[in-house]
Amino acid sequence: KQKYLVISCAARYQLAHGSVLVSGDSYRIGGFSQKHVFITGCDSGFGNLLARQLDQKGFRVTAGCLTEKGAADLAAATSPRLKTLLVDVTDSASIRSAVEFVKREVGERGLWGLVNNAGRSVPIGPPEWMHLEDFTKVLDVNLIGVIDVTLQFLPLLKKAKGRVVNVASILGRLSLTGGGYCLSKWGVEAFSDSLRRDMQHFGIKVSIIEPGFFKTGVTSVDLINADLKRLWAYLPQDVKDSYGATYLDDYMRMQGFSMNILCSPDISKVTWCMEHALTAQHPRTRYGAGWDAKFFWIPLSYLPSFVSDFIVHMLAKG
Ligand SMILES: NC(=O)c1ccc[n+]([C@@H]2O[C@H](COP(=O)([O-])OP(=O)(O)OC[C@H]3O[C@@H](n4cnc5c(N)ncnc54)[C@H](OP(=O)(O)O)[C@@H]3O)[C@@H](O)[C@H]2O)c1
Repeated sequence: KQKYLVISCAARYQLAHGSVLVSGDSYRIGGFSQKHVFITGCDSGFGNLLARQLDQKGFRVTAGCLTEKGAADLAAATSPRLKTLLVDVTDSASIRSAVEFVKREVGERGLWGLVNNAGRSVPIGPPEWMHLEDFTKVLDVNLIGVIDVTLQFLPLLKKAKGRVVNVASILGRLSLTGGGYCLSKWGVEAFSDSLRRDMQHFGIKVSIIEPGFFKTGVTSVDLINADLKRLWAYLPQDVKDSYGATYLDDYMRMQGFSMNILCSPDISKVTWCMEHALTAQHPRTRYGAGWDAKFFWIPLSYLPSFVSDFIVHMLAKG
């Protein structure tokens, strides 16, 4: 009866967090206070909330931040157990220093969890408006950064038979926008799949988080629109003419409108999935985070392209 009660509480909690109970989902590992987790991109958004959440649960968290301010704010909001570290995932030397720091922290225990969360979205927009470096700027953080961090931390993860949690997106299943973002998330999906199969031999489990749309830095309409204006300003006049005088304004208006409707403010739906991947005895391979991911975007990605193209086109027209 007690077990039934625990499972039914877990079911209610999971439903509230946009997740669906699967048999065996509620069995958790113990000994959080002896487990070390390293997270990238903790200045804001999912990474920041996850760092605070795991700290409260008693985990030994090392939070990689991009800025001094992000690190100081996080340190002020958490227990002395949580350590912050400046890490730029596009800089191999910076990752190497993080590995050395974490190695000293974990000792013989090894690293239980690596969460590849750092990411950027801009530039996103019509591919024709971009140069090659607009693609690589995003790929360097969201894909090459994930690969570099993972490869450098693997020896510590093998020691603990730990977990890798990679943050992809529903945009790693459906390319809804141009630029490096969707490419990077498709790459994260592919990298994680091959890593999971190879690392099974060492007892390392790899989970992929596929969030829908949430209100954070990467979905900031101001940021995206400011960057679209920059791209437009660099276009030759004949290309601008081919789109027409009102195209940019219409594009930004539609983007702002749909982002406002689509983005959920409840980012705990995502951190719940990340936490589950780190604490469940049987973590899932993929976590669709948010109702929009589960019931709209992911099912849409399985439909024939002509159907998904039509639906996406209708949505873009508003
Ligand atoms: N929000 C969504 O709807 C959504 C949906 C699907 C997937 N995601 C993914 O979720 C992850 C977290 O994003 P978020 O939504 O929480 O947005 P966010 O608040 O902007 O978080 C991303 C974090 O990564 C940091 N970062 C950027 N470049 C970095 C670098 N070179 N090295 C280390 N850190 C870097 C950012 O720092 P600065 O702020 O200082 O630049 C920021 O703290 C990203 O991988 C994103 O692609 C988000």
